[in-house]
Amino acid sequence: MKILMVSSEATPFAKSGGLADAVSALSRALQRAGHDVRIVLPRYYSIARDGLIQLEGPLGVPLGGQEHWSAVFQATLPNSQVPVYFIDHEGFFGRDGIYGNKAEPDFADNPQRFAFFNRAVFQLCRKLAWFPDILQAHDWPSALAPVYLRFTESGGEFTGDFAGEFANTKAVLTIHNLGYQGVYGKSAFESFALPWEAWHGAGFEFYGSLNLLKAGITCAHRLTTVSPTYAREIQAHEQGCMLDGLLRSRSSDLVGILNGVDLHEWDPAVDPHLPAHYSSTDLAGKAACKRAAQEAFGLPVDDKVPLIGMVSRLTDQKGVSELFGPLYGSAWHICHDMAVQFAIQGSGETWCENELRSLAGRLPNFRARIGYSEAIAHLVEAGADFFMMPSRYEPCGLNQMYSLRYGTLPIVRRTGGLADTVSNYDEKSGEGTGFMFEHLSPHAIYDTTGWAIWLWYNRPDHFQAMRQRAMHQEFSWDKAAHEYTALFADMLPKEETKK
Ligand code: ADP
Ligand code: GLC
Repeated sequence: MKILMVSSEATPFAKSGGLADAVSALSRALQRAGHDVRIVLPRYYSIARDGLIQLEGPLGVPLGGQEHWSAVFQATLPNSQVPVYFIDHEGFFGRDGIYGNKAEPDFADNPQRFAFFNRAVFQLCRKLAWFPDILQAHDWPSALAPVYLRFTESGGEFTGDFAGEFANTKAVLTIHNLGYQGVYGKSAFESFALPWEAWHGAGFEFYGSLNLLKAGITCAHRLTTVSPTYAREIQAHEQGCMLDGLLRSRSSDLVGILNGVDLHEWDPAVDPHLPAHYSSTDLAGKAACKRAAQEAFGLPVDDKVPLIGMVSRLTDQKGVSELFGPLYGSAWHICHDMAVQFAIQGSGETWCENELRSLAGRLPNFRARIGYSEAIAHLVEAGADFFMMPSRYEPCGLNQMYSLRYGTLPIVRRTGGLADTVSNYDEKSGEGTGFMFEHLSPHAIYDTTGWAIWLWYNRPDHFQAMRQRAMHQEFSWDKAAHEYTALFADMLPKEETKK
């Protein structure tokens, strides 16, 4: 099948979170399964043009009553043959930031930036004379692609000038995070160059505003999300982010497919970011990683004390209020009351960054590195004994899977992908791969961490067995690719699949 990934992120080119890891790893796995997979991304300012190949001739993109001109660059996704196309536009992407920056976290012209990008995708296909069977759009920044497919490109009821080439293309919208929907003022619609019918037809309207993800959900032929539990959760009020009704109405078109772990990036036996390597049969290297992590964070080097690690975007989704909320969060009590060390690498909300600095000033066993560092993220996964991930909600979560592979036992809330990948410790049998609680509160995090630390000091036999079990868990992108393939095949006209 010809599969086009429309995404605002893909490692190593542009990343703000797990979306980037997922898009690249899934593309590689689908290519290994024999598909013709291609990725299209905006060329953000941070993606240097050196080393990219420029395609000949400009791309004309009709938008908001005018034609915008774009250059197209091309590269190959590392460790694969997947072509990656970059849509270049100085006005929309010639600035720092994917969605925004510290001063302006959500660029005011994001509706126009991503409308341009999504519209350009179709012009790119025409330029390449390559028309996908499946267009897989990821999250709100790519949610307009299914809308354009339905209203201007596919030759359906409302046809545009060039309709026809995309008549057989089917759109899948993958929801990596329902918490971000792309909600803007209604007036943005005028700049999308969609027929007026699309305002109601695509369901843009959202409580007096315009909602990009909602329109994508309405127009895509099928919907996926990144774990089976999250697929159920988003159809109910608590996790539905005000779209649960719409998602329930599309229940039969919605499926949860669990993400995997990219073994090129995350394998403790060969990970280039680590000072020593290890596997489940020889854990000596893990002890060396723990010492290196303690040093990197300025903690006393000590094998005997359990090290709790965390790598996270510092946003409410990740449970940071319950963990770090000033006067309220549990991290201070954990570090004050228990014989532990805590090392966190994170960046995000300013209050939280400040509180991490404050905790580090008050506690000798708590250290934080503020900012983004791929190398330290790997060192924390490898060097820590436990991994803290008390998410309020978690569509899939990659970090707990990395932790399991690295023999670092996760402490998690039982939600979304965390519920699907971690199994709770059973004191009697010693079974399990981590430590889970149901309701998010500072108390629950404190008690569950206390339970994990109790195990470290009192049941080293259980701890070692859990570590082994964790490292043997398989989270394979090939399995995910197999499930996506089955879904895609089911969407194509029956004659084609029989061939
Ligand atoms: P989300 O996408 O919601 O942030 P995931 O667990 O799916 O959560 O993916 C997070 C990814 O981003 C992981 O690869 C993790 O290592 C990485 N990450 C998050 N914050 C940082 C940081 N401050 N430094 C380095 N890597 C980070
Ligand atoms: C989102 C989610 C995260 C998921 C990632 C990749 O960023 O927050 O849970 O793992 O996408 O699908």
